[in-house]
Amino acid sequence: MAEVKKIGVLTSGGDAPGMNAAVRAVVRAALNKNKQVLGIYEGYQGLLGGNMKEFDERSVSNILQRGGTVLHTARCEEFKYEAGVEKAVKICKEFKLDGIVVIGGDGSFRGARDLSLKGIPCVGIPGTIDNDISCSEYSIGFDTAINTVVDMVDKLRDTAESHSRVSVVEVMGRGSGEIALNSGIAVGATSILVSEFKWDIKADIIDRINASLKTGKKHFIIIVSEAVGGCDEIAKNIHDGTGLEARVTILGHVQRGGTPTCIDRVIATQMGAYAVELLNNGIGNRVVVMQNKQITDFDIFEALKMKKSLNREMYDVSYDVSI
Ligand code: ADP
Ligand code: F6P
Repeated sequence: MAEVKKIGVLTSGGDAPGMNAAVRAVVRAALNKNKQVLGIYEGYQGLLGGNMKEFDERSVSNILQRGGTVLHTARCEEFKYEAGVEKAVKICKEFKLDGIVVIGGDGSFRGARDLSLKGIPCVGIPGTIDNDISCSEYSIGFDTAINTVVDMVDKLRDTAESHSRVSVVEVMGRGSGEIALNSGIAVGATSILVSEFKWDIKADIIDRINASLKTGKKHFIIIVSEAVGGCDEIAKNIHDGTGLEARVTILGHVQRGGTPTCIDRVIATQMGAYAVELLNNGIGNRVVVMQNKQITDFDIFEALKMKKSLNREMYDVSYDVSI
């Protein structure tokens, strides 16, 4: 592989708090190694449009603590097709890009794989609040998102308690119960509904609430993963089966915003610097991951074949302690 002189960095898919910390780390680490850096705006969409500019040390000043992504992000249909990827390769050659760091989720890594196959070395960094990236224990944004959920549900608990109500809360996670499971445990939810595990409205919610009512408990929190959905119907069934008032809150995109936690800033910084190190050593087509709490890397093709499962023991524990 020829010497890498110019590195591009982009953010793609849903934004996540901590993406800016990763962009900053990529830019600064690359400049430290005397590379040129291009910030590519709006993900693959911007790449296809040549929407990029040269970054210096100061281009990424004062972004470490900011949520969202200063590079903006996009979901780009055109890039899913071969013609789109070929167009991107031409643009990379035109801008003399020797490698690209792609910060995003599994979808974005599929794009990075396709670009790598056509000769543009890419390194992926996991960035999505869903923490659903198969090859990595952790993805940037998750810690901030679950802390936001905990903060919001603690507020909901105050009013649920005052009114002796049931609060049914939908949290994000496109196909994944990670946010629901972790935040559900942290807020002491009576039931956590995720698409990965079977649940039954009577056995897993109504009977549990009725049993706890007998011991004097008066308010209840039910966390529902977005992948399960149907909160209005769940709330109606709870009312019919327990006599309690139930209110639905869909937390939505607030979970994607806010200043990144310390954990997200630290991991984003480590992963960003690691990605540059790989490209600098002529190593492309990799995904930076967390494995056994260590930052390491995987082949991008292997990474995309991996499957991530939700921790069943954690789920069972959540039931044992919410009575
Ligand atoms: P995430 O990266 O968070 O999983 P998406 O699944 O929306 O988010 O993917 C982000 C972008 O990555 C898509 O808009 C598209 O440009 C690109 N992408 C997704 N899937 C593929 C694919 N199978 N092949 C090529 N590019 C893809
Ligand atoms: O992947 C992150 C995520 O926030 C999911 O939890 C959610 O399903 C999806 O993105 C929402 O996407 P959009 O912002 O396009 O509505």
